[in-house]
Amino acid sequence: MRKQIAAANWKMNLTIQQAKELLKEILDSDIKLNDKQQVILAVPAPYLIPATELVNGKEGFVVAAQNCYFKPNGAYTGEISVEMLRSIGINYCIIGHSERREYFSESNEMLAEKVNLCLNYQINPIFCCGEPLPIREQNSHNEFVRAQLQSSLFHLTAEQLKAVILAYEPIWAIGTGKTATTEQAQEMHSFIRSVMETHYGSETANAISILYGGSVKAGNAGEIFNSPDVDGGLVGGASLVAQDFISIIKSLKK
Ligand code: PGA
Repeated sequence: MRKQIAAANWKMNLTIQQAKELLKEILDSDIKLNDKQQVILAVPAPYLIPATELVNGKEGFVVAAQNCYFKPNGAYTGEISVEMLRSIGINYCIIGHSERREYFSESNEMLAEKVNLCLNYQINPIFCCGEPLPIREQNSHNEFVRAQLQSSLFHLTAEQLKAVILAYEPIWAIGTGKTATTEQAQEMHSFIRSVMETHYGSETANAISILYGGSVKAGNAGEIFNSPDVDGGLVGGASLVAQDFISIIKSLKK
C-alpha cells in the first residue's frame, strides 16, 4: 500500500517557544506509526533546524519546508534555495500551495521549475493542486486540476513522479471550515489518479499518495481518510493544536 500521510502546514504561525511546545506534545504522545504511515511537519523556515533537532530521526516523522525558490541560487534577497534546504537535511518541501499561487503569483511553469529543482536535490515535493470556487461552480474543476498537473508535473519520468506527494486542496475549503464532502474528495482523488494512470500507467498511479487538504479537523479526518483514494491529509489550522493533530494522525488508514 502507498504511504498514508498526515502533513501539518503551520503556515506563518507560532513563535519558536510555541512551536517547540507543540512539537514536543506531538512527539511525546502515544502515537504509533506503522511502516506505511508518515507524519510530515511543514514548519516556518526559521524553525527548520530546531524542529529537525527535536524530531531527531523519530521513526516516521519528518520536517518539511513550506516553500523554496524556483532558481538554484544567486541574487534573490530573502529567498530560500533547495540547495540550502538540502544542506540542513530537509527532504520534503510543499510546492504550489494555493496561498503561494494566489498571493505570490506562482504560475504552473514556475512550479514546474521548483519541482525540477527539488528532485535534483533529492527533496520530495508535496505538490498542491485544487480549484477556486467559481471553477467548481462552473463544473470545470476536473479540467482545471488536470491542467495544473499537466503543466507542472507531466514532464517528469515515472520514476521521478514517484518521489512526488500530491495534495488536492479545493481553495474554497481552505481555512473556511467548509470541507469537501467525502464523496467530492473521493471523486476528485480518483479522477487525479486516473489522469496519472493515463500518463504513467497504473503501477505508478497506484504508488502515489494523494492527500486531501481543506478544513481537515479531528472530527472529520477519519471519514475523509477512509475513502479509497484519499491517502491522508494536508492540515493547516487543526495542525496548530497538538491534541487535534494527534487525533488526525491516529485517523490515518492502518
Ligand atoms: P486548513 O488549511 O486545514 O486550515 O483549511 C489547509 C492548507 O492550506 O493546507
